[in-house]
Amino acid sequence: MIFRVASALTLALAATAAVAQAQSPGAFSSSPFRFTHQDGEAVYRNVCAGCHMPDGRGAIGAGAYPALARNAKLEAAGYPVLLVVNGRKAMPAFGRVLDDNQVAAVVNYIRANLGNAYTDRVSVDDVKAARQ
Ligand code: HEC
Repeated sequence: MIFRVASALTLALAATAAVAQAQSPGAFSSSPFRFTHQDGEAVYRNVCAGCHMPDGRGAIGAGAYPALARNAKLEAAGYPVLLVVNGRKAMPAFGRVLDDNQVAAVVNYIRANLGNAYTDRVSVDDVKAARQ
């Protein structure tokens, strides 16, 4: 558990650093924190699983990471899109770290896997609309 919390914190710090770098023009393209995976499962394993756990059951440690497994709040597809793009409280915003395709892919992955079975898919345009 200590390892999991530590790796979650490392990820959060990496995301924060990426956001900070992204704010200076031109820096983002060379950011070592950019996630290049395009398929939803790979994005989930690399970006989300450190906090929400590989099977999505969530964790309680230095903070509370809600379960994404069998989560009825994922039914409204716009909800996870907004969370991933903008973050909320202890959930970092990934809008500058992940491109539109990556956000759509990971949201489609969590809504159709981890014990969830929402088969309607979010599109790249849905993600664009969620960005301010
Ligand atoms: C650094 C830890 C961390 C990472 C990494 C992280 N999350 Fe979260 N996530 C949280 C926390 C903490 C919350 C609860 C936020 C709150 O209290 O409002 C949360 C909430 C959520 C929720 C809302 C759950 C609910 O029941 O309301 C969704 C959906 C979600 N995260 C998806 C993701 C996805 C998809 C990723 C990967 C792109 C991800 N998270 C990465 C920490 C994290």
